[in-house]
Amino acid sequence: MTASKRIVLSSDHAAIAMRQTIARHIEAQGWEAVDIGPVTPESTHYPLHGKAAAEKVASGDCALGIVLCGTGQGIMMAANKVSGIRCGVCFDTFSARMIRQHNDANMLSLGARVIGEELALSIVDAFLGAEFEGGRHATRVAMIEGPAA
Ligand code: RB5
Repeated sequence: MTASKRIVLSSDHAAIAMRQTIARHIEAQGWEAVDIGPVTPESTHYPLHGKAAAEKVASGDCALGIVLCGTGQGIMMAANKVSGIRCGVCFDTFSARMIRQHNDANMLSLGARVIGEELALSIVDAFLGAEFEGGRHATRVAMIEGPAA
């Protein structure tokens, strides 16, 4: 499958079940879920998993990424340390749509201890169903990584 249909997923120990549910959900929609774990429930370190997932997106191996931890905050911070990554944590579908349309987010972060599974799946659908609008938003997105105009 081409990189444009590949979505990397990762999490820490707090979100394994939700991550696996999301992987099945997006596979059923025709995406390829590149689930890089972890699979066992031992306590682990979200920065490792955020960085590993972000590198898959930054390298072009995967088009998009979905990461999860207890709050969605720590793993989002770790992902955003990788150059080229724009990862937003979302607790509602409006934000999930907007981070694609206006911020060209290439990663979504979710908090498995904050939201339930049904809402998480709706947020994923909103994120994957939206497209970057470009135009004035492209200027602003470029300013995130490059020097301010
Ligand atoms: C793990 O206990 C927890 O700190 C982690 O999943 C996450 O919420 C960090 O941001």
